[in-house]
Amino acid sequence: MTEATGPRILIVDDEAAQMKALCVTLRDSGYETTGFESARAALDQIEAGRFDLLLSDLMMPEMDGITLLQSALRKDPGLVGIIMTGEGTITTAVSAMKSGALDYILKPFKLSVILPVLERALAVRRLRLENARLERQVRDRTVELEATNKELEAFSYSVSHDLRAPLRHIDGFAELLDRMAGPSLNEQSRKHLQRILDSVKQMNALIEDLLNLSRTSRAEMHRTSVDLQEIVDVIIRELGPEMEGRNIVWKKNPLPRVMGDPALLKLVLSNLLMNAIKYSRPRNPAEIEIGGKEETQEMVIFVRDNGVGFDMQFADKLFGAFQRFHSKDEFEGTGIGLANVRRIIARHGGRTWAQSKVNEGATFYFSLPH
Ligand SMILES: Nc1ncnc2c1ncn2[C@@H]1O[C@H](COP(=O)(O)OP(=O)(O)OP(=O)(O)O)[C@@H](O)[C@H]1O
Ligand SMILES: [Mg+2]
Repeated sequence: MTEATGPRILIVDDEAAQMKALCVTLRDSGYETTGFESARAALDQIEAGRFDLLLSDLMMPEMDGITLLQSALRKDPGLVGIIMTGEGTITTAVSAMKSGALDYILKPFKLSVILPVLERALAVRRLRLENARLERQVRDRTVELEATNKELEAFSYSVSHDLRAPLRHIDGFAELLDRMAGPSLNEQSRKHLQRILDSVKQMNALIEDLLNLSRTSRAEMHRTSVDLQEIVDVIIRELGPEMEGRNIVWKKNPLPRVMGDPALLKLVLSNLLMNAIKYSRPRNPAEIEIGGKEETQEMVIFVRDNGVGFDMQFADKLFGAFQRFHSKDEFEGTGIGLANVRRIIARHGGRTWAQSKVNEGATFYFSLPH
């Protein structure tokens, strides 16, 4: 739009001859110029998007350049302003810049001096506009994404919720059948019935997990200062029964205090620790290390084990819901733990990732921004 006609410059100077000369010279240099001797008349012409740049004299009888610029910026915040001033008033020029001018030019000036100043100001204007456009875009996309996310959450919540009722019926009637007809069924049929009952249980667990996952992402966050060290100690105590008969060597490095939701962060750490305990089951001793590192932008926490590990080609898939890379016979679970971890950390503004080699243990990381 402006490119075809050149940038639009509004020139205001009470010395008519100077103003006119400037209009002509700048027009010859490819700008579209409009000139006024009166600051008030110029101000009347300003409206959002009409001009790109205001080039105004400082000392004018009706209204000084600073007041003009400030009023102009109120009408069109996208405008950039340059103040022209005589040599003795540099201090005023500086105060002009403080009140919104991008630059100032000392009079009298040559074309070779003013052109780069104009170009610089126009480049700043372009950047500002582009920035504002990008910010708007990010805002719009975020709103869209949040809406889609909410819809998805609501959908998965209601689906899982509604699946429970028919499942309860299948469960109830299969059990009834088992009780009433079980003894008279032949071996093969009894096995089939048992299969149905087992699958119902498994499906129930999946639905419960799905509901929990959607609760996790909808639960309100309560941010406070959290002592991760203490949380880890509590979890390890609580996980006692899981470790019965196991030989586990713990290495607990000092952990920092972080800002976050204590209940949700506990869920994160307990999932990672439970996995470390579970997937190191074949080791004697199992070694589990927990630690944290302060980086410039964020705090990185890790949980490392010397267990069975996984193939790095699945490293990102692990964090998806119901993604499992070990068989149920070997290691029990539904594959929801890490999905929860990722969601919770994402809600804290952090990242989650993992590092491993098959049979050489695994390290899970998450970060929390300062
Ligand atoms: N410490 C680990 N070492 C090796 N593999 C792991 C480890 N932690 C997770 N995994 C792999 O990632 C998969 C997903 O983990 P996730 O915690 O989400 O599910 P899960 O442990 O199988 O079940 P649950 O829902 O009970 O947590 C696991 O099935 C396993 O294959
Ligand atoms: Mg798990």
